[in-house]
Amino acid sequence: MILLEQVGFTYADGAVGLQDVSFAVPAGELVVVAGANGSGKTTLLKHLNGLLLPQQGRVAVDGVCTRDDPHGVRQRVGMVFQHADAQIVGETVADDVAFGPENLLLSRPEIDARVADALDAVGLTHKKHHRPHLLSGGEKRRLTIAGILAMRPPVVVFDEPFSSLDFFGVQQVLRQILALKKTGHTLLVSTHDLDKIIAHVDRILLLHEGRLVRAGNPDDILPIVEQYGVRKPDVSRLGMTVRSWLN
Ligand SMILES: Nc1ncnc2c1ncn2[C@@H]1O[C@H](COP(=O)(O)OP(=O)(O)OP(=O)(O)O)[C@@H](O)[C@H]1O
Ligand SMILES: [Mg+2]
Repeated sequence: MILLEQVGFTYADGAVGLQDVSFAVPAGELVVVAGANGSGKTTLLKHLNGLLLPQQGRVAVDGVCTRDDPHGVRQRVGMVFQHADAQIVGETVADDVAFGPENLLLSRPEIDARVADALDAVGLTHKKHHRPHLLSGGEKRRLTIAGILAMRPPVVVFDEPFSSLDFFGVQQVLRQILALKKTGHTLLVSTHDLDKIIAHVDRILLLHEGRLVRAGNPDDILPIVEQYGVRKPDVSRLGMTVRSWLN
């Protein structure tokens, strides 16, 4: 369970990140964080794993407050950043995935097993000795996902996971998100592209200027998204996505 209570955050230059945001996400849900540019999506996601700490209110994951135990919360919540380059640290693909488990001080055989599993899950085993900066955009994003998977957090947060990917790249990332859902993970995904994921979403959090306008299921939220600068899913493209999953 993720709980936000009256969370407020303002950046040093005075920009409002979040204002009075409260909601709860039960374990196992797939939640989309929607909102126009600058509405606070990234700021919200960074609060979930303690990268940012609330200036007002509190954020708790499974009863652990981010302010009291940011390290403990980071073990529960993995975050896949929008810009993969900011997250890639290893000399090789395998080294990069090993970085997280190494920081958890696991044994070498356990680290190696996790790296192998994570690379297999994202389809990058054949590139394990490659240099990360030579990968394509889609491969880099899958690499950062593997790095998070290797830490085995029960909650995974994705910031704009479909941005700058081609159709094939989107399908692979979506497949990964859905595989995590199937195995009971709690998932929060910020996106401009509601149509890529809407068929699978339990709940939408709609942000506007740092405030939570409304949280509800897609039937509640989709009728109002355009008022807040979010494009409504295109039904014909939605059909394409669903069909690709049925095939
Ligand atoms: N590091 C920062 N320093 C100062 N202001 C920031 C910083 N990051 C974000 N902001 C401001 O905080 C507000 C919320 O930004 P945030 O990045 O959370 O929005 P977003 O919904 O993720 O936007 P986008 O769709 O462009 O990714 C915006 O006004 C933004 O300009
Ligand atoms: Mg953002």
